[in-house]
Amino acid sequence: MAKSKSIYVCSECGAQSPQWLGRCPSCGKFGSLVEEIAETAAPAQKAQKRERSTTGNLPVPLSLVREESLKRISSGIAELDTVLGGGIVPGSLVLIGGDPGIGKSTLLTEVSAHLSKAQKVLYVSAEESCMQVKMRCSRLKLDSSNLLLLNETCLEDILESIRDEKFVVIDSVQAVYTSELSSAAGSVAQVRECAGKLQRVAKSRGITFFIVGHVTKEGALAGPKVLEHIMDTVLYFEGEREENFKILRAYKNRFGSVQEVGVFEMTGEGIYGVSDYSGIFLSESRGEAAGSCVTPAETGNRCMMVELQTLLAKSSYGLPRRMSLGIDYNKLVLLIAVLEKRCGLPFSNQDVYLNAMGGIRLNEPAVDLSVCAALASGFHNRPVDKDTAIFGEVGLTGEVRGVTFAEKRVNECIKMGFSTVIFPAKNVKSVQKFADKISLVPVRTVGQALQKLFPRRDTSAETN
Ligand SMILES: Nc1ncnc2c1ncn2[C@@H]1O[C@H](COP(=O)(O)OP(=O)(O)OP(=O)(O)O)[C@@H](O)[C@H]1O
Ligand SMILES: [Mg+2]
Repeated sequence: MAKSKSIYVCSECGAQSPQWLGRCPSCGKFGSLVEEIAETAAPAQKAQKRERSTTGNLPVPLSLVREESLKRISSGIAELDTVLGGGIVPGSLVLIGGDPGIGKSTLLTEVSAHLSKAQKVLYVSAEESCMQVKMRCSRLKLDSSNLLLLNETCLEDILESIRDEKFVVIDSVQAVYTSELSSAAGSVAQVRECAGKLQRVAKSRGITFFIVGHVTKEGALAGPKVLEHIMDTVLYFEGEREENFKILRAYKNRFGSVQEVGVFEMTGEGIYGVSDYSGIFLSESRGEAAGSCVTPAETGNRCMMVELQTLLAKSSYGLPRRMSLGIDYNKLVLLIAVLEKRCGLPFSNQDVYLNAMGGIRLNEPAVDLSVCAALASGFHNRPVDKDTAIFGEVGLTGEVRGVTFAEKRVNECIKMGFSTVIFPAKNVKSVQKFADKISLVPVRTVGQALQKLFPRRDTSAETN
């Protein structure tokens, strides 16, 4: 037997080094190199080669590829289908990541139970016993009589157990191991090798794998980045564990948009897709306190009314603090600078806190004007009217730029009972038709928008 040899693998990027280094030469991360046994890497590669030579794959003209195999299957949960881009693509690998206890197993148990009514489904629980899965099924009142359960952690045994199932759940990839490597389950090498093996099986046998992945303390998927490259779709469950609403977001999707989000509600009876999501990102006391503002935000193919809240507090240190949840930190700093320079609102002695309600993350530029309005409202200590919604992109010169989906946004405002909408003048044409249903207030600059919101006094002359 060959003498076992150690190599050092970066837990962040998967780069290898023959000796231990304090800093990864590939990604630059400190203290990320962990010891792995190198000796067993060779059989893994051999196995891969053997698989390739026995499958006998030959090039085929695209016209001869059968299209029915691309037909999507419904998961039984409409919100999940939306995030997947219209349903499950057969033969795909879907990774679901999320904090502990957020509901990954619950969601996949529901999907498995639904799919098991029409086809054979195998649920591999590497973390929980079959009894625990059964208990969950009973609690969720699922009809799971056809669902096949397997409590196994060895990947080779799992793959051997798969007969003619076309849908397999692996819960979780960090708990399974391949016997070809001697490192512990959950290590970088194990996760990478297991995911690679699952990918080969998925593609050669047309099996759909739903794989649960744990996340690190920082919120990234535990394991090498290569894990995300192997997957066809990577979904993240977001949201606080204590809050009922969870957001499922596509981080990578080879078969659909990554803009899609699904909103779920977690209850004792299970996890439900929330179709009427519009009111959940608004607070009940909206419009009573200064510093908050509502914007119609576009996420994927849907528009949601989201309340942005700001809090200004006198800074006790020389350098004022800025903190942002749900909106990019740099964007907040940039918009504060625009308000200071273009509208004369000094924030240099104020700590600024910004939060998008309900734990949602907003990346689009159309929320800019609403952030400015919330900040100015906090600064003047004057609430924004609760029936006014605001959207628009803000440029560094203080101009308000046109945004996409203006028509959809105004429509959502009308649907949610808002009476006034402040929006970019560039979008007037597309929303003019709504003039009899909602009061349209087009603006060209941030200054104009603030003047409309706080009309009686001169916005630049006020102090807090
Ligand atoms: N008996 C129960 N009644 C109500 N809610 C429950 C009950 N048991 C579990 N839950 C809910 O289900 C959640 C756990 O869900 P689940 O096991 O699907 O999470 P998970 O993401 O798979 O977690 P992990 O990463 O630890 O496996 C808990 O946070 C809890 O809110
Ligand atoms: Mg679980």
